[in-house]
Amino acid sequence: MHDKDFIWSDIVSKVSRCSKCQLHKYRNKPVPGEGPLSSKLLFIGEAPGQKEDEEGRPFVGSAGKLLTEMLEGRGIARSDVFITNVVRCRPPNNREPSDDEITACGEYTTSIIKLVNPKLLVTLGNHAGRFIFGLVGIKWAGVSRMRGRWVKVDLLGLKDVYLFPTFHPATALYNPNVKSILDLDFDIIKDLYVGLSKESVGRRSPSLLDFIQGGTH
Ligand code: URA
Ligand code: SF4
Repeated sequence: MHDKDFIWSDIVSKVSRCSKCQLHKYRNKPVPGEGPLSSKLLFIGEAPGQKEDEEGRPFVGSAGKLLTEMLEGRGIARSDVFITNVVRCRPPNNREPSDDEITACGEYTTSIIKLVNPKLLVTLGNHAGRFIFGLVGIKWAGVSRMRGRWVKVDLLGLKDVYLFPTFHPATALYNPNVKSILDLDFDIIKDLYVGLSKESVGRRSPSLLDFIQGGTH
């Protein structure tokens, strides 16, 4: 077996037996994540919902349908990207995951990032954004303020990773304003992804550094 496949099966088996946080009590199937282990693009969402918990796969409910449409509408096959969440068991009544639960599951989140070694990491929503930006010591100012700009970072020993925060697709389901913003952001994600596939990123997309350093975008 290829090294990466071996490490992935180890993660999957640990998650399936995991009881590091109380969410294990409520799960039907754990949702470790899915996608090619060599994908250049990694999405991090929030938590499995009902459908994900039934199927053991991320983003297969209505938010997932929207995510898939936004990717495929821009010529990116869903099957080419890796998708995971900041927690891998469904919170009861779809409540938001707590900081403790996200921290407990963080061991898997970081193992998956290191394993996939993406060039572009997209965080969906506040929970994923706060966790991932926390790893690189950037204060999370809320998704509305952070979204739509990339920042290039060294993350968990990986060099030059583009981080790009945006809204969670579930927020867009009932809010047309958020949907339009998400569409703009996915246009940028597509540009970045195409640029990465050519091994060079254009300067077209605005950088979050300007924002962090007090720029006036
Ligand atoms: N929402 C998420 O954040 N993750 C999923 O896997 C499904 C819906
Ligand atoms: Fe373990 Fe993560 Fe599930 Fe909590 S959510 S029990 S840490 S796999």
